[in-house]
Amino acid sequence: MSRLSIDDIQNMKSQGEKIAVLTAYDASFASLLDENAVDAFIVGDSLGMVIQGHESTLPVTMDEMIYHSANVARGSQRSYIITDLPYQSYTTPQQTLDNARRLIEEGGAQMVKLEGGQQQIDNVSLLVENNIPVCGHLGLEPQSVNELGGYKVQGRDEAAAERIFNDAKALQQAGIQLLVLECIPASLGKLISEHLSIPVIGIGAGVDCDGQVLVTYDMLGISRGHKAKFVKNFLAEQNSIEAAIRAYVDAVKQSQYPADEHSYQ
Ligand code: KIV
Repeated sequence: MSRLSIDDIQNMKSQGEKIAVLTAYDASFASLLDENAVDAFIVGDSLGMVIQGHESTLPVTMDEMIYHSANVARGSQRSYIITDLPYQSYTTPQQTLDNARRLIEEGGAQMVKLEGGQQQIDNVSLLVENNIPVCGHLGLEPQSVNELGGYKVQGRDEAAAERIFNDAKALQQAGIQLLVLECIPASLGKLISEHLSIPVIGIGAGVDCDGQVLVTYDMLGISRGHKAKFVKNFLAEQNSIEAAIRAYVDAVKQSQYPADEHSYQ
């Protein structure tokens, strides 16, 4: 079985097929997600919270991202792999390129993800020039939790919504091939997904994004602490982890998740 490519993910958007994404951090879960038709994994720095027990994603290191990404790559055959560049690992274009190369070469990633808008254009451009596929991440950017003053919905007023919209267009122009939108009003998720030609994956960004992602531990109801509005426990109505994964994929594909109760207005 060959791995999906970014062209396969792009074709899903072109053909109106929703893209089902989950986070993965280890070989066993990666294998289960892979076998149950998850289109792509994000090896997210959320592992700092759900695996390592930190209060934020900030302590996660490059070596840890490589370790988890390589485990996920070894455990899977089909799903597309996107791995996060962690906090402070992309402060200059050269540092960004060196670290992105490590995620691809040592971590088995097919694409790297970074947070931020206009300020990331130089970093994105250098990656694209060096044939490294890039995913952007806008809206709630967890690596900026200290500047944001907490994990809050973003883009609620007109100026903030316009900034996110313009950042999304600028990142696409710079060459990103995928965009994650986190915790924004559903109407803004819809607007951006309609305006961009690249696939837009939402997490708390409404049902009209081209695809959805959840932290797998949230999707299985095993995360502790604050539960965001967009989180749904798919294991609650199923009798196995495999069935919960399939229920999530089906709900995303049929635009049944997220429902209004999981979306911000
Ligand atoms: O770190 C992460 O897991 C993520 C996704 C949930 C979007 O960035």
